[in-house]
Amino acid sequence: MLNIKRVVVSTAIILSTSHVALGNETGKMIFTQGNGKGATACSTCHGIQGNGSGTAGFPCLSNQSSVYLRKQLEDFRNNKRLNPMMSPIAKALTKAEILAVTNYVTNIGAGKSITASPKVDSALLKAGEHLAKIGNWAQNIPPCFACHGPEGYGVGNHFPTLAGQHASYITNQIRSWQSGTRNNDPNNLMKVVAQRLSDKETKAISAYLNSLPPVKK
Ligand code: HEC
Ligand code: HEC
Repeated sequence: MLNIKRVVVSTAIILSTSHVALGNETGKMIFTQGNGKGATACSTCHGIQGNGSGTAGFPCLSNQSSVYLRKQLEDFRNNKRLNPMMSPIAKALTKAEILAVTNYVTNIGAGKSITASPKVDSALLKAGEHLAKIGNWAQNIPPCFACHGPEGYGVGNHFPTLAGQHASYITNQIRSWQSGTRNNDPNNLMKVVAQRLSDKETKAISAYLNSLPPVKK
């Protein structure tokens, strides 16, 4: 009786651990090699550690919650968010592949080796910091950190991390909300903020957020 119990328990453990391993392997394979059905290897653009590229405007993924990343892939699939590079890739992934690859990327680099932000003028950084922490109430712009966490590291699964993210990518997102190619935020919470930001403020806030360490110290 005891033996049977042991066998059952250890089989269950083997099955469950091999399932986890399979999930990680699938995620890693898609990330580094693609799925062979139209989804190109994520690492070609997002980097082998998922840290993206500032010069190309590819976001860091490895410091973001996997639930948030899944929502973004779903939004690309449903055309709530449009991008000529990402939309076709998201549409070429199955739900199971999305689950595997997002679980993989959120655990790899944790943004650790994200490239250092370019040197920027300190007045620009100060203006960005002001916007992040105090906002610009004359234009009805709340502080970014009111929603994105007191230090910009996000809140739960729905308010993403901004700290350390590439400036080029942040600017692109603000412009996408302004132009309407990104239309996926709950209750337009982010769209109304983006629409009120001037070009100068966009530049300042992008530089400031990029200057923060990607992982909370
Ligand atoms: C050809 C380059 C390229 C490849 C390959 C690529 N991406 Fe992207 N990805 C981008 C770009 C560019 C963006 C930013 C799009 C925008 O500005 O809206 C992006 C954005 C994303 C986002 C949104 C991140 C956020 O913070 O909102 C996710 C998630 C994502 N990619 C996942 C993936 C996954 C998973 C793969 C592999 C299956 C992949 N990408 C392959 C270029 C690429
Ligand atoms: C009222 C709440 C709120 C405020 C204030 C706010 N945001 Fe957001 N922001 C959001 C939400 C919600 C999302 C997620 C949208 C989604 O689900 O795709 C978001 C997403 C973003 C993204 C996209 C991140 C990514 O990787 O996909 C950027 C960039 C961003 N916000 C920048 C800012 C900046 C800069 C400010 C300050 C000027 C700001 N936000 C203020 C709610 C807010």
